[in-house]
Amino acid sequence: MKTFGFFDDQNREYVITDPATPFPWINYLGNEDFFGLISNTAGGYNFYKDAKFRRITRYRYNSVPMDNGGRYFYINDGESVWSPGWKPCKTKLDSYECRHGMNYTRITGSKNEVEASVLFFVPLKTWAEIQKVTIKNTSNKVKRLKLFSYTEWCLWNAATDGENFQRNLSTGEVEIENGGAAIYHKTEYKERRNHYAYYAVTNAQVDGYDTDRESFVGLYNDLSEPQCVTAGKPSNSVAHGWSPIASQYIEVTLQPGEQKDYIFLLGYAENAQEQKFAVGGTPADSTLITSLGTLDHTIINKEKAHEVIARFSTVEAVDAAYNELRQMWDELLSKYTVKSDDERMNRMVNIWNQYQCMITFNFSRSASFFESGVGRGMGFRDSNQDLVGFVHQVPSRARQRIIDIASTQFPDGGCYHQYQPLTKRGNNDIGGGFNDDPCWLIFGTVAYIKETGDFSILDEMVPFDNQPGTEVTLFDHLRISFNHVVENLGPHMLPLIGRADWNDCLNLNCFSWDPNESFQTTENNSEGSKAESLMIAGLFVLTGKQYVELCNKIARGEEAARAQKCIDAMVEAVKKHGWDGEWYLRAYDYYGNKIGSNECEEGKIFIESQGFCTMAGIGLEDGMVDRALDSCKKYLDSKHGMVLNHPAFTKYYVEMGEISSYPAGYKENAGIFCHNNPWVIIGETVARRGNDAWEHYTKICPAWIEDQTLHKVEPYVYCQMVAGKDAAKPGEGKNSWLTGTAAWNWITITQYILGIKPTYDGIEIDPCIPSTLKEYTVHRVLRDAEFDITIKNPNGKQSGVSQIVLDGSAIEGNIITATPGHHVVEVTM
Ligand code: BGC
Ligand code: NOJ
Repeated sequence: MKTFGFFDDQNREYVITDPATPFPWINYLGNEDFFGLISNTAGGYNFYKDAKFRRITRYRYNSVPMDNGGRYFYINDGESVWSPGWKPCKTKLDSYECRHGMNYTRITGSKNEVEASVLFFVPLKTWAEIQKVTIKNTSNKVKRLKLFSYTEWCLWNAATDGENFQRNLSTGEVEIENGGAAIYHKTEYKERRNHYAYYAVTNAQVDGYDTDRESFVGLYNDLSEPQCVTAGKPSNSVAHGWSPIASQYIEVTLQPGEQKDYIFLLGYAENAQEQKFAVGGTPADSTLITSLGTLDHTIINKEKAHEVIARFSTVEAVDAAYNELRQMWDELLSKYTVKSDDERMNRMVNIWNQYQCMITFNFSRSASFFESGVGRGMGFRDSNQDLVGFVHQVPSRARQRIIDIASTQFPDGGCYHQYQPLTKRGNNDIGGGFNDDPCWLIFGTVAYIKETGDFSILDEMVPFDNQPGTEVTLFDHLRISFNHVVENLGPHMLPLIGRADWNDCLNLNCFSWDPNESFQTTENNSEGSKAESLMIAGLFVLTGKQYVELCNKIARGEEAARAQKCIDAMVEAVKKHGWDGEWYLRAYDYYGNKIGSNECEEGKIFIESQGFCTMAGIGLEDGMVDRALDSCKKYLDSKHGMVLNHPAFTKYYVEMGEISSYPAGYKENAGIFCHNNPWVIIGETVARRGNDAWEHYTKICPAWIEDQTLHKVEPYVYCQMVAGKDAAKPGEGKNSWLTGTAAWNWITITQYILGIKPTYDGIEIDPCIPSTLKEYTVHRVLRDAEFDITIKNPNGKQSGVSQIVLDGSAIEGNIITATPGHHVVEVTM
């Protein structure tokens, strides 16, 4: 079978060996504030904090050809013009390799005995991307090369950048310094903006530049053959409106065997209002030309850019910053590691699953090659889920995130569905009313406290809807969240669904016949609605139990008892009105009709309620959990994982909304929505069925992908959806990277399968593994304690421990206190 790359576990890299991957295979640069998306051919873009409001470089989504625009380098060697990343020239290379690592990417190409390698990364605590270009003459002749760089500025707001051309084509402004070695983008700087961007060569003089796209590329050329590159001569253009770019030109002479490094730096800076302009309007550097032609008070105060340029003006400084980044990842990935005979599991647990958790934590669902960065900010439920996969890496950032999320909640517990990362304000365009949202705040907060033991977060004063003066404690937010479900029950005493629950596309109160309105935001018919959700019921029982445990832990026994009664009532309601005989119902619709029942013509069984009700253990003692899990296997499972519902909807049901708008087998209509496979897998561990849990786990796990052409998207990360069994191409992946799948599979494998769970006091050891797994070791750092836990399974069991020896002495039970220091734990199943 054709492959396009392989895992290099030693270096924690995925190595792509053929640039023409079935879809751009991307990576993320930067891990706080300044970010970049980069494909295996150097396509992509950068932004500061918010992919919508602070887009730095321009990118055209769904372009022809695919993945057009990025940070490009061209080499004109007199014979041919080529790019080390193959694109945009697409000149046939003599060799090509792209290594995607932890927040860095290295792309190397060679042609005509010249090798060019570019290392892309964002140094820690820096608002800039470094592109270190290393060019080597591998021949025995002198080589004279012409090197051009290219990047296109976005006019900051990625949404209006793509639509408001009557304005945009007149506003672009740049400044040029040092003969083009530094190019500044300052559109709108003279008025309200206090920020600018720059692209600079930090360690060499340049021999020319371009800042106007048309002058550089040619109006009717495409990026594969810019006229300046073909002619081997820059035009030293100064952009006035139209489309400002940044391109440097360097003449490179290399002796046989010689190699040279050029450091390019793409940065962003903000100035306080009173410090926006260069002192007295006279620039420090007399070679400066403004786009207006004269020097005036609109000249940027460039101190901040100069500082960063100076800081990274040597190869040594750049290499040191790169090493710091690598060290940070050594550190981040050292909190949980596994050693076993299964190298695929090892690489997911030790590298790629954790890495993806950090990425989804950073971006929520905002910016990927499937999320344009303009539509969505940070999801309320999404972020709470993401942080459970990330909290062990940098707990302080998870803490801040919890406070930020809770600050967007309303006094009645309802939530904005999303908020913008730049302002941290709820996003009105998306609205609220998703009745599962509040529960997730409990889920996220509990995970944080169990990881850190930091109960003080519960006392933090947190406002409603960011309104100063409305602050209550975070604990109160949790109580209000819990109550939001209790106060919104329907006729069967099950939770009312509101606009939708986790499944954004199960729109039971929407009734839309108008293709011009959005299922997500259009006016809902909630008045008199009987639409109830079994998914929220299960989620409520699961997170409700967490809430009760927390209340008991902090000596709020009365509140715990009150909450427990609500949970017991919900369990009863599910058993009575939520069970269909072989599985849990999915919902009741507006009229009170069943959804996800054997009585239905299509959509007889849904995964979400099976996942949540089995995770919550509802009816475990009555055999409901086992039966529901068996039904998942029988009706939902397929070669590539479990589909969301079965049978798929083949027509539009106005009373169900967007779910039935998707073609059968895609997205929420019977796609394999990877996000909820782990719910069922955790359910399998509740039922102690280790073999079944494992089988489901390996079906959607990237490291097990065999057919890369069919799978299409990156084979090193989870995607949101894989086409289901009713689709035209079952097994084809889409929407890679930003998905709650990452966090859920992280806790599934590490806590529920390998069975190492953080608790308030320490670690609970509770494996539920395939009987074939005979031994593994987990290294886990929790707070000030460090554990080396070896689990032996000599008799091929699927769950349960028979003996635990801690630092040489056998202990009772399966919980180990997190006492500071190093501990050796030997477990026999
Ligand atoms: C997608 C969902 C998404 C929703 C809100 C739907 O079209 O299928 O996955 O959550 O839009 O953006
Ligand atoms: C993607 C959304 O970001 C997430 O919140 C939602 O639960 C899933 N789609 C399922 O609809």
